[in-house]
Amino acid sequence: MDFKQKVVDLVSEQVSLPKEKVAMLIERPKNAKMGDYAFPAFALAKIERKNPAIIAQEIAEKISDDNFSNIQAVGPYVNFAINHEKLVKATLNDILNKKAHYGDQELGHGNVPIDMSSPNIAKPMSMGHLRSTVIGNSIAKTMEKVGYTPIKINYLGDYGTQFGKLIAAYKHWGSEEEVKKDPIMNLFHYYVRFHKEAEKNPALEEEGRAWFKKLEEGDPEATKLWQWFREVSLADFNRIYKELGVEFNSYNGEAFFNDKMQPVIDELKDKGLLHESQGAQVVDMGEDENPAIIVKSDGTSIYLTRDLAAAEWRMKEYNFVKMLYVVGNEQAQHFVELKTVLKKMGYDWADEIHHVPFGLITQGGKKLSTRKGNVVFLDQVLKDAVSLAQKQIEEKNPSLENKDQVAHDVGVGAVIFHDLKNDRLDNFDFDLKEVVRFEGDTGPYVQYTNARAQSILRKANKPISMNDLALDDDWAFAVAKDLADFPEIVAKASERFEPSIIAKYALNLSKKFNKYYANVRILDENSQLNARLALVQATSIVLTEALRLLGVNAPKEM
Ligand code: ARG
Repeated sequence: MDFKQKVVDLVSEQVSLPKEKVAMLIERPKNAKMGDYAFPAFALAKIERKNPAIIAQEIAEKISDDNFSNIQAVGPYVNFAINHEKLVKATLNDILNKKAHYGDQELGHGNVPIDMSSPNIAKPMSMGHLRSTVIGNSIAKTMEKVGYTPIKINYLGDYGTQFGKLIAAYKHWGSEEEVKKDPIMNLFHYYVRFHKEAEKNPALEEEGRAWFKKLEEGDPEATKLWQWFREVSLADFNRIYKELGVEFNSYNGEAFFNDKMQPVIDELKDKGLLHESQGAQVVDMGEDENPAIIVKSDGTSIYLTRDLAAAEWRMKEYNFVKMLYVVGNEQAQHFVELKTVLKKMGYDWADEIHHVPFGLITQGGKKLSTRKGNVVFLDQVLKDAVSLAQKQIEEKNPSLENKDQVAHDVGVGAVIFHDLKNDRLDNFDFDLKEVVRFEGDTGPYVQYTNARAQSILRKANKPISMNDLALDDDWAFAVAKDLADFPEIVAKASERFEPSIIAKYALNLSKKFNKYYANVRILDENSQLNARLALVQATSIVLTEALRLLGVNAPKEM
């Protein structure tokens, strides 16, 4: 039962506005005493040349419907108060019927490539890449729930001049043994050392450039090393993805587009968009904007050129209806250029490309920098979180079955949830203690709430009947009202590409449910027992589904 739709229907019968317009006007009064929905009559005042308060009065008098306990004009508003019992019944019925499919909807369909994670080979995955991975993963699940087909693309940073430097560094100080033992860590050390020593010894830079040139020309030794670095790095990344429970549909990274850039450059030339500026080939971005560089003065192509080729290729391959790039906010200008150039090339589908930016993670207020070796090692973060969860479980519930699995779900869930609970554009400071905190606004708090609901159901050990779902107390209504909001929350999160909407929702629902638990004797044998268990079951279904959309598992016991 969609009460908002009901309000739209009832109001539409009385006014001369189209339904879509009415739907857009309906508000949620800030003060709950004013009801659950309100129709502002201002919009009609001009058309009808009447005082909006009088119009509101007239509309309110004409409507009656037993889904609402009160329909009343207050000033220029028509306020609707939902009939509590109806909402509880309708919502519980809906959730118990649809189970995990509650909240599924058809807001669109078609392929949506999501460019996400995209770490750079031979460097540790950064906090930024972690953010991109978990935000992208959650957006993919949410888009799927509202009808789209997400395609998760890991656009690996597997090409570029840095590989020349890495090869040079490896030839100087590297060993096969070391790389095999701990690939990313050791390759990264060579790379950091290269930069340090190059400060004193500029000849190294020259060596790096020479190796890159060899790589570009297909020199067998350079190619073999590059391939090996890519392979062992990817194996390392895959360990982290496995921990996080994230999978990709494609690993077509930067190197995949090496032979696809020249056609784009030719196309730009043919379309008369390319011209020379200070030795480089550029596309004008319009007045007051710097032109976008397509080919550098030394003849090498760059990040933007590759992304142009990738976008065109993906359009051909997937015929997408939208494409998302989950990449840090610091690259905003790059994506503006990407879209502008595609538009200039005559591709209207550029309008369906969205950069989904996110804020920076700092440490002690300072920016993390891979190059300076100032990094957080993600494997370690995940390991620490899991062992902390393990300790907690050992203390609280030592006889729990599947202890290792639950500790994993809780520890990793804490890290993911911590990343998703704030608006994605907010910057935040990385503090491991904060990340693995299990009380307060955290993933484990939501998981505990769900496990509590499951334990109540286990204790009751009764089948739930769909015939008897009426509850009349305010605590239950508060929970049911949140449950009724879930489909709208999912829609909003998918429209704004904003997982935090779901995370905040899960926290609020958990708080309401815990209040219910504290104030109502759920398992008492009386006429409303069935309905109370239905509420508990429905809460668990929705919490589990909300966590799933965030990429977090919900253990039934912890
Ligand atoms: N590898 C890049 C980085 O680490 C991110 C790539 C983002 N995706 C893209 N299509 N440009 O900064």
